Amino acid sequence: MAEWQRTHTCGELRQTHIGQTVVLNGWVNSYRAYNDQVFVDLRDRYGLTQVVFESDQAELFAAAGDIRNEWVLSVRGKVRERLPGKHNPKLATGDIELVADALHILNRCPPPPFEVMSIPLETGFGDPELAGEDLRLQYRYLDLRRPTLQRTLSLRHRLNKVIRDYLDFQGFLELETPLLGRSTPEGARDYLVPSRIWRDEKTGRPHWYALPQSPQLYKQLLMVAGYDKYFQIARCLRDEDLRADRQPEFTQLDLEMSFVEVNDVLVLIEGLIAEIFQRCAGVTIPLPLPRLGYEEVMLKYGSDKPDWRFGLEIAELSDLATQTTFKIFQEAISSGGKVRGLNVVGGAEKFSRKGIDQLTEFVGRLGAKGLAWIKVEADKFTSPIEKFLPADAQAALRQRLKAGTGDLLLIVAGQEEIVCQSLGALRTHLATTLGLIDSARRDFQAAWIIDFPSFIWDAEEKRWAANHHPFTAPRDEDLPLLESEPAKVRAKAYDLVINGYEVGGGSIRIHNPEVQARIFAVLGMAPEQARQRFGFLLDALKYGAPPHGGIALGLDRLTMILSGTTNIRDVIAFPKNQKARDLMTGAPAAVDPKQLRELGL
Ligand code: AMO
Repeated sequence: MAEWQRTHTCGELRQTHIGQTVVLNGWVNSYRAYNDQVFVDLRDRYGLTQVVFESDQAELFAAAGDIRNEWVLSVRGKVRERLPGKHNPKLATGDIELVADALHILNRCPPPPFEVMSIPLETGFGDPELAGEDLRLQYRYLDLRRPTLQRTLSLRHRLNKVIRDYLDFQGFLELETPLLGRSTPEGARDYLVPSRIWRDEKTGRPHWYALPQSPQLYKQLLMVAGYDKYFQIARCLRDEDLRADRQPEFTQLDLEMSFVEVNDVLVLIEGLIAEIFQRCAGVTIPLPLPRLGYEEVMLKYGSDKPDWRFGLEIAELSDLATQTTFKIFQEAISSGGKVRGLNVVGGAEKFSRKGIDQLTEFVGRLGAKGLAWIKVEADKFTSPIEKFLPADAQAALRQRLKAGTGDLLLIVAGQEEIVCQSLGALRTHLATTLGLIDSARRDFQAAWIIDFPSFIWDAEEKRWAANHHPFTAPRDEDLPLLESEPAKVRAKAYDLVINGYEVGGGSIRIHNPEVQARIFAVLGMAPEQARQRFGFLLDALKYGAPPHGGIALGLDRLTMILSGTTNIRDVIAFPKNQKARDLMTGAPAAVDPKQLRELGL
């Protein structure tokens, strides 16, 4: 061992080490120079230790005076108890300090482009005032020194470990599938990779690999091959519009099982979720998780990934609308639409006219033509639509929305989809503005959404599209409706939702080639077209495919929830920015023309 190498980490020393001579290696977190002492807080990923350079060691003291933030040091010294009153109970090493007797400067550092950290480690989840994200992403290796990020990435490690332990115990095999493959239909654009060797005979242009949007087809083929229980912590690539919870490159726990029905997958995965929250957050998730039908959650929450940490449930008012004389309500109903609303308990005082105008603008941006509002008083309603509401309609509204004095009722009328979307978004908007979500409280509300429709109508393309993917099995009792009433066919599909995030989704797959062919037909895919795209899968289904199903959990989103961030870039070591750029390496970037010529591009 070289003399500069550490004997302990910066988070390790306690009172039991007092009197020992030790060597620490680490980065300078901060320094304070006085007439007769220089204090340096030395940091590594394990913690922070206060080092003291005393003036009686003249040469050492002079050298210490030059030390700057983020230099890399090796310090040898003796551990001693801090002076009375100087103990720092917030720091694990806060009872001791290291009195230096040797210093090796392992590396210097120019003034960093932003302050890496100004508060001591282990004093909580807080960060110093953060520099702009673009600058931090450009110097990500400095940003990654922040304890918050180091903690989050350690959490990710723990998450992967818990997953591997749990699934290994359950008899799953961790298997890898290719990155260079054929396009998998998960609904986004593919990232394509040109082949240098394979060309189109006519045009001379390269043929293409697609990077996987998920390992979907390969995992189904592994079931055909008899592997029975598969999982993979898989990187997936999707060229889609980015959001706060979406990256072009993200990680799934991808999983597939043979000879299972919906219940088997849900029970396995909720066991895993409970284990993850227990071991990664110390939180007990009560099992079984609630299972809610798609239609029910769309009505009550206006979203298929609702947040249950607050109330503000939406109520169906369409039947009451006909008891009113309000034209907009009546027109909505007669044109096949819906009237629905929610009750902001105690909201009458909290929203002025201007406040309500802002809410109206908010739902307007989501397509709603207006927002009817009612302030509930003991014996009357204050509302622009009050005169259209006969007494019995008022009484029914009070009852339906459980309205009491001081409440604010908000109502939207129109096409069902717009009513759902606008009230669903209004619900979360209100929860944020009224502070109904206490993010400091480690409250995790998880549930399954089941009974999704198999198909959704693509109005632009004027055809049915698969709601999940085209390999999702319809419910057996709905099979006869496939051709006649596709809208009514429900899928053996399920999503896992936690705190308003879609954390996972999966389904039981079609293992019968005839059913698969019927689904392709509903989707308007001609048999030749289906053969050309998925011929290998259709063949495999013929060669003894077992009934099978699975799921994929978004591990980035799960880490976001566990670590309490709403920014997916906070849980990935080297993320892309909102425009899919890597600001550190500059990718995507131009390449050498020679590389392009080789590819025939
Ligand atoms: P799905 O497309 O629903 O299913 O993806 C599963 C889960 O992956 C996460 N996810 C993402 N996370 C971050 N950034 C993205 N761009 C992104 N896209 C998806 C979500 C989502 O719930 N093959 C199927 C699974 C199956 O049927 O077994 C699939 O990929 O948390």
